[in-house]
Amino acid sequence: MTSPVLAGARVLLGVSGGIAAYKAADLVRRLREAGAEVRVVLTESAARFVTALTFQALSGQPVRSSLWDEAAEAAMGHIELARWADEILVAPASADVLARLAHGQANDLLTTVVLASTAPLSVAPAMNHQMWTHAATRANVETLRARGVRVFGPASGAQACGETGEGRLLEPLDLIAELAAARGPRPLAGLRVLVSAGPTFEDIDPVRFIGNRSSGRMGFAIAEAAVAFGAEVELVAGPVALPTPTGVRRRDVRSAREMREAVLTAVPSSDIFVSAAAVGDYRPAEPSALKLKKTGASRALELVQNPDILAEVGRLAPRPLLVGFAAETDDLELHARDKLERKGLDLIAANRVGENLGFECAENALLLLWPGGREELAQADKRVLARALLQRVAARYRETRGATP
Ligand code: C5P
Repeated sequence: MTSPVLAGARVLLGVSGGIAAYKAADLVRRLREAGAEVRVVLTESAARFVTALTFQALSGQPVRSSLWDEAAEAAMGHIELARWADEILVAPASADVLARLAHGQANDLLTTVVLASTAPLSVAPAMNHQMWTHAATRANVETLRARGVRVFGPASGAQACGETGEGRLLEPLDLIAELAAARGPRPLAGLRVLVSAGPTFEDIDPVRFIGNRSSGRMGFAIAEAAVAFGAEVELVAGPVALPTPTGVRRRDVRSAREMREAVLTAVPSSDIFVSAAAVGDYRPAEPSALKLKKTGASRALELVQNPDILAEVGRLAPRPLLVGFAAETDDLELHARDKLERKGLDLIAANRVGENLGFECAENALLLLWPGGREELAQADKRVLARALLQRVAARYRETRGATP
């Protein structure tokens, strides 16, 4: 389907060596369907996984992989290729190519073209999950991000090496959605977005607590997408093991009461509050200062209710546009609509928990409800969903508060 922001775009697709290189063939086809002109550069190792002929047939253009190709350099040399591109996308981007790009190397055609081009650069990493989490790769990715390079994915799941983890190439359509969003209008420009994310931990004693299975991924993905959409973003995070998305101001908290304080402090300077945190409803009435000892008998733990942060913000006037989440195991729409009304929300994102969706997963599916409307967002990577959710949030903001400043 033609995409208004990709139609006519001249996309240079760099394909580096890795088993995910075969997916780049479909990506070429999809980019062309979106209306883009595509030229492909293969690295030498990519050419061991896939053939230039495949990409030539799909792009309808000659494919290059060497700096030392005399005929090609006579026709469209690497400098012309660098000037021709108005987008450079490296997909898949191997750990090696990320390292070389981070260090500004120009030791093959792809890295030379990147250095010689002023076109925005996007990379879609794909590699074994240990390579992705290695400190060297992390540092290279941070260097690239700090330089304004867009990093799409990677997704989590089964890997070609037989292991499971983060490091899969995003699917071609998800990559196109990311590229279109990065090139497209910034629907939250000028707005201040507050996001809460993750679980809360309620202490029983100095070593034990009551927590929940929220990973924080959805909220972090929303914070990241809000930055990409042009917002100024503040993130109040419960205890999670996730890196702070670039450009986000983060405040770490532990309990629901700490989260309440951080949120209420930030609310007066926020235009939109997305409450993605799984706030614990109860806490131990009297946490013990000392570690509780085994007594040989059963023990009762008295719980008192925590403040409902979102409902409290809903009672403020003026208040930011309010977006809540509802994780439900049954009667999704009924319970979510009830929460929308009871908490005075402008929009609620409901998801069914269980069935490998929702908590602790990289993917989710959402049902968006607002007064007088609904929209279903099909199962996708949480980062892709976050963008779709924020598109709807931006539309709600315009409908209820007028134009963005
Ligand atoms: O009532 P329920 O917990 O299902 O509502 C979920 C929504 O309310 C989420 O957006 C969550 O962040 C918020 N919430 C809150 N404070 C609580 C409980 C939930 O802000 N104590």
